Amino acid sequence: PVLVVDYGAQYAQLIARRVREADAYSEVVPSTASVTDILAKDPAAVILSGGPSSVYADGAPQVDPALFEAGVPVLGICYGFQAMASALGGTVAQTGLREYGGTQLRASTDGSTLLDGQPAEQSVWMSHGDAVTAAPEGFSVVAQSAGAEVAAFEDDERRLYGVQWHPEVAHSSFGQQVLENFLRRGAGVPADWTAGSIIDEQVELIRAQVGSGRVICGLSGGVDSAVAAALVQKAVGDQLTCVFVDHGLLRAGEAEQVERDYVAATGVNLKVWDASEAFLAALAGVTDPETKRKAIGREFIRAFEAAAREVIEDAAEASTAAGSGADGDGEVRFLVQGTLYPDVVESGGGEGAANIKSHHNVGGLPDDLQFELVEPLRALFKDEVRAVGAELGLPAEIVGRQPFPGPGLGIRIIGEVTRERLEVLRAADAIAREELTAAGLDSTIWQCPVVLLADVRSVGVQGDGRTYGHPIVLRPVSSEDAMTADWTRMPYDVLARISTRITNEVAEVNRVVLDVTSKPPGTIEWE
Ligand code: XMP
Repeated sequence: PVLVVDYGAQYAQLIARRVREADAYSEVVPSTASVTDILAKDPAAVILSGGPSSVYADGAPQVDPALFEAGVPVLGICYGFQAMASALGGTVAQTGLREYGGTQLRASTDGSTLLDGQPAEQSVWMSHGDAVTAAPEGFSVVAQSAGAEVAAFEDDERRLYGVQWHPEVAHSSFGQQVLENFLRRGAGVPADWTAGSIIDEQVELIRAQVGSGRVICGLSGGVDSAVAAALVQKAVGDQLTCVFVDHGLLRAGEAEQVERDYVAATGVNLKVWDASEAFLAALAGVTDPETKRKAIGREFIRAFEAAAREVIEDAAEASTAAGSGADGDGEVRFLVQGTLYPDVVESGGGEGAANIKSHHNVGGLPDDLQFELVEPLRALFKDEVRAVGAELGLPAEIVGRQPFPGPGLGIRIIGEVTRERLEVLRAADAIAREELTAAGLDSTIWQCPVVLLADVRSVGVQGDGRTYGHPIVLRPVSSEDAMTADWTRMPYDVLARISTRITNEVAEVNRVVLDVTSKPPGTIEWE
């Protein structure tokens, strides 16, 4: 892999994604990883990320100079660039000239590895107080800006490179080219991380893990579980049964959609499991978001267990009917989950990550889980999952779908979840989705949670009467991977139509409000 060493802030995940967009597999490792840890992963290249520290600050993470002796190509970015300069005997100083945001760069592109093929004047995204004032020996300086005499350096012999700016952000016009130049020309990393290669690798891993065992996969209708299921189906075919749990927290039309789009496309074995009574009973009286998630997660597992027992009974019956007497094993040992890489990273990666990620997926796993987890998407970002899904032949309605959380409408009712409140929210949500689709906004918007503030009432007037109804919150967001997001600036007339229709058609709602908070600080969901 290409390892991205995380010096804090949010840059590391973004760099990892950009590297993958350049068709090279990448992983994030914490800055506490030793050179031995790093080399143990046999990296094709290492990228040192930016971070909030000054190299002179007490306790600032340092780079072990041994990394530069290991023969592995390294690219330092921003803080990583300065830490690299300082570790190799260059000078880093507080020049008093800070640069934040768009900055003009003068590049010496001739003969440069990183800047080859780029204009000599370009705009890049900077964010630094300290600056490298003298490059270490053996490096040539290939770019400058007003606040950074040494804005980029390279040593082709040792394959060591560094840039002061952030090539990973879209505001650096030639950023992706800098990363690709480093990977291809500097480090010789091949472009072999593609949807096809991901599928081949995962299919093999799934077969190795599952053998001839039986597997179930909870289908939610969303992209992740659909793609995870399709991978497992490709790997082990009929050993897989998909279970669609109807937990009563679904949006309008969801169950039908799974049957129509997914089963038709894949021919997978599907069991629809009605567990809405159990879910609603488990949620009665619960208002705390974490408790809700845990309760929902527990009920999911109980539903999977019950469905698994039926899968075994069905299989036994089928083999008796066929007179074969052969039935594989008498249990379902594996549960497929659509855990994604950002969840693993957000929870700290490595240690304990599986738990937290599964937690994220189904809202919390009980300790007495009887299944072994199969998580074929654990290494992937959402856009990669979509590419894999398309490559596997899943229909566009599925791979293009907006994210919807596992706990469903249960975490979009602020307050206790009841059947009546679910009906109100379901009706409002259906209107919002219908209007967003009609306005052609589905691909502009990452997702638009519709939230019912069930414990809040406000005064309104409808017809001649005073009302005392609940507010509905619209939370349209734009995002690349849900780790950060901004609220979507969408047309007022679409907002107006949604608002008018919801307040007219959903009796209990007399107010529609728009959430204009980015993430951070607000998460996408309200709970
Ligand atoms: P937040 O609210 O953390 O959401 O900004 C980030 C993305 O994750 C989705 N989400 C979940 N998905 N189970 C899921 O499968 C969950 O428990 C869960 N919580 C949030 C959310 O919809 C957004 O896309």
